[in-house]
Amino acid sequence: MKYSFKNDYSEGAHPAILQALVDNNLKQQPGYGDDEYTQEAVALIRKKIGNPAANVHLVSGGTQANLIVIASILRPHESVIAASTGHINVHETGAIEATGHRIEAVPTTDGKLKPEHIWGVLSKFEEVHMTRPRLVYISNSTEIGTIYTRQELVDLSNCCRENGLYLFLDGARLASALCAEGSDMTLTDLGTYTDVFYIGGTKNGTLLGEAIVINNPALQTDFRYHLKQRGALLAKGRILGIQFAELFRGDLFFEMARHANQLAARLSDAFVRLGFPLLTVSTTNQIFPILTQTVIQQLLEQFEFYQWQKIDEYHAAIRLVTSWSTPDEAVDKFIETLETIAAK
Ligand SMILES: Cc1ncc(COP(=O)(O)O)c(C=O)c1O
Repeated sequence: MKYSFKNDYSEGAHPAILQALVDNNLKQQPGYGDDEYTQEAVALIRKKIGNPAANVHLVSGGTQANLIVIASILRPHESVIAASTGHINVHETGAIEATGHRIEAVPTTDGKLKPEHIWGVLSKFEEVHMTRPRLVYISNSTEIGTIYTRQELVDLSNCCRENGLYLFLDGARLASALCAEGSDMTLTDLGTYTDVFYIGGTKNGTLLGEAIVINNPALQTDFRYHLKQRGALLAKGRILGIQFAELFRGDLFFEMARHANQLAARLSDAFVRLGFPLLTVSTTNQIFPILTQTVIQQLLEQFEFYQWQKIDEYHAAIRLVTSWSTPDEAVDKFIETLETIAAK
């Protein structure tokens, strides 16, 4: 079978997480997040982010987290600003728009929003006649593997506060971003500089699950009603609780992401060494080399991956994603294959 670099959710869960699910299988617990595992996970996350007053809610997926957070914050006439590459804009089947809210999509070169992008949107806003921007959505790592520095987060946070906007960070791949070379951001920074963010489990070794963290007390009220109304408050919330407690009791959350990043860095180094350009500068677990269609077809004979973006008639950027469980041997084999192709 061909090894797949398509995604970081192609495998099940880290064995420690599966073991924890097995070990606690027969213990009876209350439902809907009132179980002892969820309580432990919430306490661990509050401690890690340095915000004892944060509200933490565990949900099953990223699109669900995005749409419930965004719809719970915005009033009917309000909109959300996002990079045009943002997941909510291009990969969620209009989930946000289906809640009745406009996305102000801003083109960027690197998938990252900066204060000037926000000022640009605000400068076009016309009282009453247009939807009012009220929320800024960013993702870290971004959909094209780039990361925000701590200072960039602080600048965005200040810009949002000065302009009456809330800041929401989509952390579907937060672990990879925080462990990436060049990142100086910590979980504590997220607890301090965002109004809301979520910590991704699905793409970092859990069976499934994301932890929504609401720092801003003004946004905490009645959030569980929003979850329940949109079918996201699971009776068997224990399944999420057990997994997130396991992630944060020790270092598993970061350990898995470091592994994924290291293997992506090996792939990235090989492309650079062999003279292939990269679409973006990424030190995370997603990389985007630009290759000719001939090279792509040769690689596809042995590996699975997505073609991400057409560059011209002959070239495309492919996306390679590594995970917590990518074996060294798969990366060795990919690099050997690439070397053979490049030597022809
Ligand atoms: C940045 C980002 N946010 C959200 C999601 C959506 O997650 P899900 O597929 O669990 O709905 C993804 C999925 O790839 C993602 O990359």
